Amino acid sequence: MMEENFNILAKDWTKNIPEKNYEIAADIIERLNIGEGHNVLDVAAGTGILYSILKDKGLSNYVAVDIADKMVEEFLNIYPGTDVRCLDYEKKLMFECDFDFVIIFNSIHHFNDYDAIFENSYNNLKAGGKFVICHARTRAGLKEHRRKIGYVSDKEEPIPTDETLINLCQKHGFGEFIIDDTEYFYFCCQKLDQDEKIFEL
Ligand SMILES: C[S@@+](CC[C@H](N)C(=O)[O-])C[C@H]1O[C@@H](n2cnc3c(N)ncnc32)[C@H](O)[C@@H]1O
Repeated sequence: MMEENFNILAKDWTKNIPEKNYEIAADIIERLNIGEGHNVLDVAAGTGILYSILKDKGLSNYVAVDIADKMVEEFLNIYPGTDVRCLDYEKKLMFECDFDFVIIFNSIHHFNDYDAIFENSYNNLKAGGKFVICHARTRAGLKEHRRKIGYVSDKEEPIPTDETLINLCQKHGFGEFIIDDTEYFYFCCQKLDQDEKIFEL
């Protein structure tokens, strides 16, 4: 199972993260203008790469989730007392607070049920809150990397296509989407107010 693989990798995960990933993570946080008073949900957080930057931003609430308990354990070894929970984000989840940002960094290729992750994000965001999916590689870069390491996957597109993302936005009540696949992969959409939601007729 996938989480067992991540449990094995957890101990050495942090030391194997390339410096470039921290730079991209910082760029994304800057781009989103995350700061003072915001609530952030970090999905598939691993050992806390986003938190290494977010911890100094004066957030009101930060919650991290990851399916692999050893990743959670490692995260808590590095940042004791942080709100890190061992949860599957493909299962229906409701948190105690609404978030300004839900971010999936470097992990979208491990998810299969995109409807579930869009639904969870919608249900846990404030109106106007942003759902962000990003990756330190571009779509083509990730495919090339997988080819080089001989990774075999049954998914043709490890990062969902524009068409898939746009359909998911429309289906789950998001608008104002941005997709940028130039330096790294960046997708951001905004939770619409209930009355702005586009319903399929
Ligand atoms: C490639 S790692 C990235 C971790 C971290 N975001 C980083 O960049 O270092 C992918 C992470 O996704 C987590 N993950 C995969 N499927 C998940 C799910 N359904 N719910 C929550 N976490 C999940 C894995 O346990 C793993 O920690």
